[in-house]
Amino acid sequence: MDTKKLKKRPIGVFDSGIGGLTVAKSLFDILPNEDIIYLGDSARLPYGTKSKETIILYSIECLKFLLKKNVKCIVIACNTASANALPFLQKITKIPVIGVIAPGAEAAVNKSKSERIGVIATMSTVQTDSYKKEIHKKNKGAKVFSKACSLFVQLAEDGWTDNKIAELVAKEYLSEFKSLDIDTLILGCTHYPILKSTIQKVLGRKIKLIDSGEETAKQVKEILINKELLNPQKKAGEHKFFVTDFQNKFKEISERFLGRKLGKVQKIKLT
Ligand code: DGL
Repeated sequence: MDTKKLKKRPIGVFDSGIGGLTVAKSLFDILPNEDIIYLGDSARLPYGTKSKETIILYSIECLKFLLKKNVKCIVIACNTASANALPFLQKITKIPVIGVIAPGAEAAVNKSKSERIGVIATMSTVQTDSYKKEIHKKNKGAKVFSKACSLFVQLAEDGWTDNKIAELVAKEYLSEFKSLDIDTLILGCTHYPILKSTIQKVLGRKIKLIDSGEETAKQVKEILINKELLNPQKKAGEHKFFVTDFQNKFKEISERFLGRKLGKVQKIKLT
């Protein structure tokens, strides 16, 4: 296909729900002239507690929806879907499919001096050991300590991000990282950046936090530059949002995750 036309196509992004709006936010900031189509599979949220087979199946359906929208590349904003389904999705299409694990792992390896890195994520992401594997591709000697912090997802959705409960939960989950002497912690779930200030408070300033979504957005930009696929338009990109269900308090949660007003959102069916 003619690259002039290809450049003008949108970027597709999908997540298990609206958590991936934290990743979309980074994409909007880093690639302001790109048109972006976001799909949140909110009807089937959470992916983080589901089996690998189910996550792959759901992810393929999300990918196919975006392919029908003629996107030029696909970003898997969901850590759980990236950890479980990335190679399967990459086999389905020739366009670049980018997950959040490798960019987050690479940034952690680059930032860590002690080569002791912590990872927090959903149960399913932790079980795949994907972050550990990606970290070891860059630094075989690094020590990686992973922990599932399931309650953070609900806290972020309820907006309980800076209160006593959030702090107590964070202390319970994260205290062991202090004695493990890590100097870098990967926020390996779409929802965790919402709790960043509480996590930082509990861990102290010396531990650097890596936001995988932000790192992914930087890598998407690099890929588009290398493949000469950056949209040449001067105007601000158009953003379209699709969900498979309107969960409770949808607007309030979405706008908290996105950090700005949300445009029109369309409800669709994937199957
Ligand atoms: N989006 C998921 C992730 O980043 C968190 C929510 C879920 O479990 O689906 O892993």
